[in-house]
Amino acid sequence: MKKILLLGSGELGKEFVISAKRLGCHVIACDSYAGAPAMQVADEFCVFNMLDEAPLRAAIAHYQPDLIVPEIEAIRTEVLLHVEKEGFEVIPSARAANLTMNRDRIRDVAVGLGVRTAQFNYAESAAELLAQAQVIGFPVVIKPVMSSSGKGQSVAKSAADIQASWDFACAGMRGDRQKVIVEEFIHFEFEITLLTIRQRKGQTLFCEPIGHVQERGDYQYSWQPQAMKLDYLKAAQDMAQKVTADLGGAGLFGVEFFVTKDEVIFSELSPRPHDTGMVTLISQNLSEFDLHARAILGLPIPLISCSEGASAVVLATQDGIAPRYTGLEAALSEPGVDVRIFGKPSTRPYRRMAVALAQGANALQRARDAAAKIRVIL
Ligand SMILES: Nc1ncnc2c1ncn2[C@@H]1O[C@H](COP(=O)(O)OP(=O)(O)OP(=O)(O)O)[C@@H](O)[C@H]1O
Ligand SMILES: [Mg+2]
Repeated sequence: MKKILLLGSGELGKEFVISAKRLGCHVIACDSYAGAPAMQVADEFCVFNMLDEAPLRAAIAHYQPDLIVPEIEAIRTEVLLHVEKEGFEVIPSARAANLTMNRDRIRDVAVGLGVRTAQFNYAESAAELLAQAQVIGFPVVIKPVMSSSGKGQSVAKSAADIQASWDFACAGMRGDRQKVIVEEFIHFEFEITLLTIRQRKGQTLFCEPIGHVQERGDYQYSWQPQAMKLDYLKAAQDMAQKVTADLGGAGLFGVEFFVTKDEVIFSELSPRPHDTGMVTLISQNLSEFDLHARAILGLPIPLISCSEGASAVVLATQDGIAPRYTGLEAALSEPGVDVRIFGKPSTRPYRRMAVALAQGANALQRARDAAAKIRVIL
C-alpha cells in the first residue's frame, strides 16, 4: 500500500483522494485549515501552513510518504527540491512544482523549448512596466509572477492604467519578489486545457481538449470535447509533450492554450489535475483524478474514452460559516446531471463551493442550469 502525503486539500484534492483510495492507497491530507474537503475523505490529516519550511519538513519526516503529491501552487517548493535529493518522490517532480509556482520560470522554460507563447516581458517597477507595455503595445495583460486564480491580474488598455495595474499586482502577489509578467493581449476564439498524462512506462497520453470560460481569473464553466482543427490539436499536443517531457516525472498535467483564428498559443500549465478538468468526472471513463492516480502509481491506462459533458461552478456570495445548500432536488431531477458539493466549512464572496456536471446533448446549458438552481445559504 502506497502512503501519499497530499499537499493541499481542496476540491481537486478530495476527488484525487477518492481515486487513490479506490486503488488501495493510504492518504494524509494537508492544508492550512481543519475540515478542508480532502481531509474529509483521507485516512489522516495534518494542519499547517505549507509555505512554512519547518512544519512542511516536519510533516514529511514524520509520515515518511512514498509519494508527495502537491495539489496547489502555494507550497515552499524549495523544501520539495531538498527532500527529493534525500530520496523522497515528489509528483511529478520537485522541479515541476518549483518552476510552475513561478510564472517567469515556466515561461522561460517554454520559450527555451521553442514553444509559441504570447509576446511578453517582465517588469519590477511601474516605470519598467510602462516601458515594456509600450514595446508590446496596448492592451496588455499584467500578472504577478507568483500568484494563482487570477489574483493581482489585470488588463491595461493604455498608459493611464499602468499605475493601477502595478498597484493591483503588488497587492495580489505572493512571495517576496515584486515582479510582474506583462503580456500581449490575445484575442482568442476560445481557450482550452489539454490534460496530458505522463506515464511511468509508456507514451504520453492526451485527453480530448476542454473548453472553458474564465471570469475574475477563475473558471466558470467548462466542456469536453472542445472541437478544434486537427492540425491545431496536433500543435497543442506537440507543445504539451515538449514542456511536460522537460519537467519530467509521472502524473497528469493541465496544459492551457489560447486558440486564435490562425494559431495555438501556449499559456501556462499545472503539474496536477486542473479545475476546468472537473468536467471529466462526468465526461470520461476515467476522470482526471483517476488518471493522475494511475499515472503516479505506475498502473496501466489502456483506454481514455470521452463523451459530451460539461461542468459549471456554484459560488458563494458572502462571508459565513457552516453553509447549507438548497436546490439540490431540482438540479438532480434532470437526467444526466450530477453535483459535487465540496464541503468547505466557510464561505466568502465568489468562493467555489460546488460544481454541477451534465452529460449528453446540450450538456453545457444543462450544467449551467443545474448550477443556477443550487444556492449556498447561511
Ligand atoms: N495574454 C492573455 N490574453 C488574453 N487573455 C488572457 C491572457 N492571459 C490570461 N488571460 C485570461 O486570464 C485567464 C487566467 O490567466 P492565467 O491562467 O495565466 O492565470 P492564473 O492566475 O494562473 O489562473 P488559474 O490559476 O485559474 O489557471 C486565462 O485563462 C485567460 O482567460
Ligand atoms: Mg490558468
